[in-house]
Formats: sequence, structure tokens, C-alpha cells
Amino acid sequence: MKVLLTEAQIATRIKDLAAQIERDLPGEEGIHFVCVLKGGFMFMSDLVRSMGPRVTLDFIAVSSYGTGTRSSGEVRMQKDLDYGLEGRDVIIVEDIVDTGLTLTYLQDILRARSPKSLRTACLLSKPSRRKVEVRVDYIGFTIEDHFVVGYGLDYAEKYRNLPHIAVLDGE
Ligand code: IMP
Repeated sequence: MKVLLTEAQIATRIKDLAAQIERDLPGEEGIHFVCVLKGGFMFMSDLVRSMGPRVTLDFIAVSSYGTGTRSSGEVRMQKDLDYGLEGRDVIIVEDIVDTGLTLTYLQDILRARSPKSLRTACLLSKPSRRKVEVRVDYIGFTIEDHFVVGYGLDYAEKYRNLPHIAVLDGE
């Protein structure tokens, strides 16, 4: 598998994103991170470790892919949040925005829960594959149309533990 983004490149970029988020939400008020499982777990973990003490966390799980490399277009909730979002500054943390269908679904259902603000951070974006326009406030890296794995991203549940992002063989 070819390495597309090294561990060091990812670490540097995530520090930039964390600083940008703190600049956009100055002050003492909490920042509530919603990690989209499973792919977002490593990104979230590194992002919040670069931030101060005013962070709270929650987790949501949705499925949009079977075991293939192409989206079915159908998004289903598998695990809802444990806490409400009313009056909070919320940041959705997602691994990748591809067609945009998953994020559109998530933003719609979370916005309906009356957060004070709702922003989205994605480690990766594949703009050439977009089917719906979706707003992403923080993007780590924009990539070409490759199926990538590692750093949380899987193929058939494998490779999530790689510390870097790699292009899957045969892509
Ligand atoms: P979207 O709904 O098409 O934007 O897809 C978003 C979801 O599809 C992501 O949260 C990933 O779980 C998955 N996905 C999209 N592209 C890739 C990829 O290149 N590798 C691994 N998973 C991907």
C-alpha cells in the first residue's frame, strides 16, 4: 500500500486545525466534540489532545457503506449521542467527506437539536466525488479520488489502526 499522508504530516496539520478552532471559538465556554464512529476516532483523539481543558466529547455512529468501496447512498443511525446539544458550540468530527451524504444527514439531525453553533471538521475531503454540497468548516487534506485506509479509515473493518493514510492496493 502506498503511503499518501505520513504520521508527521497528519500530526502537524491537526495542530493547525486545533489552533484554528480555538481562534474561532475564543473564551472559556465549552467546545463539544461529536465524533462520528468508527472512522473519526483517531482524528478526534489527536484533535482534542491539542486543545485546552474546555472540551467535552460525545460519540455517534452511522453507517453508509457496506464492505465495498462505494457508498450505497443510504445513511442509518447505529448509535445516537448520549447528551443533548442545546445551547452548545458543537463540532462534528468525521474522517472523510466523499459524496457528502453522510455529513448532510448528520448536520440535519444535529442542527435540529438546537446547538448554539454547529461546525464540522473532516480530516480528508474528496471533492471530485461530491453528490451534494455540504459545508465543512475545517478540512485537513483535500485528496484525489482514491480509496484510502488507515488513521481510522477502514476497508471491510481492516487497517483502521495504521498511523498513516494509505491508498488501498488496486485503486
Ligand atoms: P459520504 O457519505 O459518501 O461522504 O461518505 C462518508 C463515509 O464513507 C466516511 O465516513 C467513510 O466512512 C466512508 N468513506 C468514504 N470514502 C472512503 C475512503 O476512501 N476510505 C474509507 N472510507 C471511506
